[in-house]
Amino acid sequence: MEISSGLEDVYIKHTALTWIDGEKGELRYRGYDINDLVEHSTFEEVAYLMLNGEMPDSSQISDFRRKIQKGYLLPEFTNKIIAQLPTDADPLSIYMTALSALSSLEKNYTYSKSSDIEKAAAIIGNAGAIIAQAYRHISGKPPIDAQPSDNFARSFLRASFGEEPDGKNVSLMDKAMILYLDHEVPASTTAALVACSTLSDMYSSIAAAVAALKGPLHGGAAEAAFRQFLEIGDPSKAEEWFRKNIIEGKKKLMGFGHRVYRTYDPRMLIFKKLASEMLRTEEQRRIFAIAQKIEELGVKQFSQKHVYPNTDFYSGIAFSALGFPVNMFTALFALSRTVGWLAHISEYNETEPRLIRPRAIYSGPGPRKLVSVSERK
Ligand code: CMC
Repeated sequence: MEISSGLEDVYIKHTALTWIDGEKGELRYRGYDINDLVEHSTFEEVAYLMLNGEMPDSSQISDFRRKIQKGYLLPEFTNKIIAQLPTDADPLSIYMTALSALSSLEKNYTYSKSSDIEKAAAIIGNAGAIIAQAYRHISGKPPIDAQPSDNFARSFLRASFGEEPDGKNVSLMDKAMILYLDHEVPASTTAALVACSTLSDMYSSIAAAVAALKGPLHGGAAEAAFRQFLEIGDPSKAEEWFRKNIIEGKKKLMGFGHRVYRTYDPRMLIFKKLASEMLRTEEQRRIFAIAQKIEELGVKQFSQKHVYPNTDFYSGIAFSALGFPVNMFTALFALSRTVGWLAHISEYNETEPRLIRPRAIYSGPGPRKLVSVSERK
C-alpha cells in the first residue's frame, strides 16, 4: 500500500474536456488551442462547447444565451441572504453561501443529461448575478439586477459597476473568463466530483468546489501574487524583497509553480499580454513593472526545479485594470471556473459515475482499553 501524496499522478476520470501538455506548456479545450479560443471565440461559445461537445452555430448560441440569462434573476431569499452578510465578507464566501442557499431548492435530485445542461446554463447566469452582487455588497452599493445583453461579460460588468462598460473592458473580461474556464481536475474540480459522485445536487457540488478553490495554493493565488506586488511597492525594491523573502525567508513565491506545468503556463503568457495592453495609470504601470521584475528573478531562481509563473501571476493585474479590488480576484476566477466544474460534473455523470471513496492507511495506536472519564488522568 502506497500513498500518493497530494494525489499526484492519480487519474480519477477520463475526460474529453481539457488537455494539458505540462512539458510543452500547451492547453486545449475539446481539441481547440487556448490561444485560438481567446482570440476567436467568446466565453459563452466556449461554455457551450464544454457542456455540449461542439462549438455552437448562431441559433444554438442565442438559445444558450437565453438559458443563461434566465439565471440572472435570483430568488428573493438569495438576495436577502447576501444583504445580511457582513460588508467585509470575502466575495467568494458570499458566492458559496448563495450557492448553498440555492441548493435548498434541490430536492430528490437525479441526474438527467438534458435537464442538467439546461440547469448548468442557469447556474452560469446565477453565478454572474451573485458575484456582481457580491462586488456591490462589499462596496456598500445596492444590488442591480443583471440584464440580458449580447455578451455575458458585458452583462456582468454592467451589473457590477452600474454603467455601460468600455468595449475594451468587455473584451478583457471575456478573454479572462475563457482562460480560467477549465483546467482538468485541480483541487476544486476534484471536490466537485467527490460531491457529485454521492449523487449530491449540482448547486451543492459547485459549493464544494468553491470551498476548495478558496485557498492561496489554488484560486487564492492571484490575490496573493498581487498582494506581493503591492508589498514591494516599486520595481527598484523588487530585488531586495525577493532576496529577503523568497531566497533567505524561504517563502513561496505566489503565482509561481504548478502541479502539471514544468514550463510557462500558456494562460500566464496570454494574461501577461492582455494585462500589458490595459495599463492606463501610473500605478498600474508600476505594478506591472514589479511583476515583470519578480518574474525574471523567479524564473532565474526556480527554473531548474521546473517552477515557472502560472496563470495567477498576471491575472490580478488584468482584473485590477477592470476596476475590481484585490479581494474580488478569486470570485472572478470562480465565476468562470463554474463552467468547468459543471462540465466535469456532467461528463462524470454521463460516462463513468461511481462513488469516489478512497482509503487511508491507519497509523494510529493499536487496540486500547477505554476507561470512564472519572478514572482518566
Ligand atoms: N515558490 C518557491 N518554490 C516553489 C514554488 C513557489 N511558488 N512552487 C514550488 N516550489 C518548489 C518547492 O519548494 C519544491 O522544492 P523542493 O523540491 O526543493 O522541496 C518544488 O518546487 C516542488 O514543489 P511542490 O510543492 O512539491 O509542488 P506541488 O505540485 O505540490 O505544488 C503548487 C504546486 C501550485 C501548490 C506550488 O507550486 C505553490 O504553492 N505555488 C504557489 C501558489 C500558487 O501560485 N498557486 C496557483 C497554482 S496555478 C492556478 C490554480 O490552480 O489555481
